Amino acid sequence: MKIRKMGMVGCGLMGRGIVEVCARADYDVLVTTSGDESLERGLAAIEASLTRAVEKGRATAEEKKAAMSRITGTVSIEDFKECDLVIESVNEDLELKRRIFLSLDKVCQAHTILATNTSCLSVMDIASATRRPDRVLGVHFFNPVPFMKLIELVKTFTTSEETMVVGRAFAESLGKVVIMTTDSPGFIVVRLVMPFVLGAIRLYESGVATKEEIDLAITLGLNYPTGPLSLCDFIGLDTILSIATAMYQELGDAQYAPPVVLKRLVAAGHLGRKTSKGFYYYK
Ligand SMILES: NC(=O)c1ccc[n+]([C@@H]2O[C@H](COP(=O)([O-])OP(=O)(O)OC[C@H]3O[C@@H](n4cnc5c(N)ncnc54)[C@H](O)[C@@H]3O)[C@@H](O)[C@H]2O)c1
Repeated sequence: MKIRKMGMVGCGLMGRGIVEVCARADYDVLVTTSGDESLERGLAAIEASLTRAVEKGRATAEEKKAAMSRITGTVSIEDFKECDLVIESVNEDLELKRRIFLSLDKVCQAHTILATNTSCLSVMDIASATRRPDRVLGVHFFNPVPFMKLIELVKTFTTSEETMVVGRAFAESLGKVVIMTTDSPGFIVVRLVMPFVLGAIRLYESGVATKEEIDLAITLGLNYPTGPLSLCDFIGLDTILSIATAMYQELGDAQYAPPVVLKRLVAAGHLGRKTSKGFYYYK
């Protein structure tokens, strides 16, 4: 099966990046979010990102125009009936994702493949909300989507081989490198990186060093491009908290337990770069 038209549910940090790379790879993309305002914000962010690509010489003005012309916003999930593939990238909340998959399953044609961009939740738990668990897989992108080469492709016990073949071909058509994983909490990257970033938050919480010192120690000492606390702000502290909570619940391993300061920052609306304040303040 060849993917011609795709759908995207969610146009936040990740959804808008996925829409952008798909439109640039010649797919027609239909996108929806939780409301008009977030849809407008998402579409404006995609346009701004493409404008930056033109300014930096990574795209021509014609390519930007063509990509934007392939993107259509909608507030109705009913419109997804023509899509061959729908990717969900809403907040990391199992019940929300299951509700969306249930609606998509009702609306979409029998051949349509449904994919989730979850960072750590069970793809099987999401797939079981549908009558097509053989056509559900995980397609885990990385942030920022236009620049990060990796996609983790997640196969559940019920995902068919054909779905995996189509999923791989789609991911590679975006210019990404695919790594296959099983449906295990956090797959590969998130499973390994969460103890590191949560450990850095605990170090900060216990007063071992300032946040700036922790980040500088890691960038200079390990030659990482970003320190762990800046990375949390980049990913979104609400997303980090949801991932930590879900992984701790699933694995029962104290390395994944959400630190208190993370919970307090999220409760205070310090969600990272997206709200201009997290561990750090942003203009
Ligand atoms: N932030 C990261 O670095 C990162 C990296 C890889 C994967 N992910 C995963 O991607 C997913 C989205 O994360 P994000 O950082 O883009 O979050 P975000 O908060 O930036 O965006 C969430 C989006 O979901 C939409 N949404 C919420 N409820 C909805 C509904 N009922 N119907 C339609 N849309 C709805 C919101 O309008 C928003 O556009 C999560 O599962 C997350 O774990 C995040």
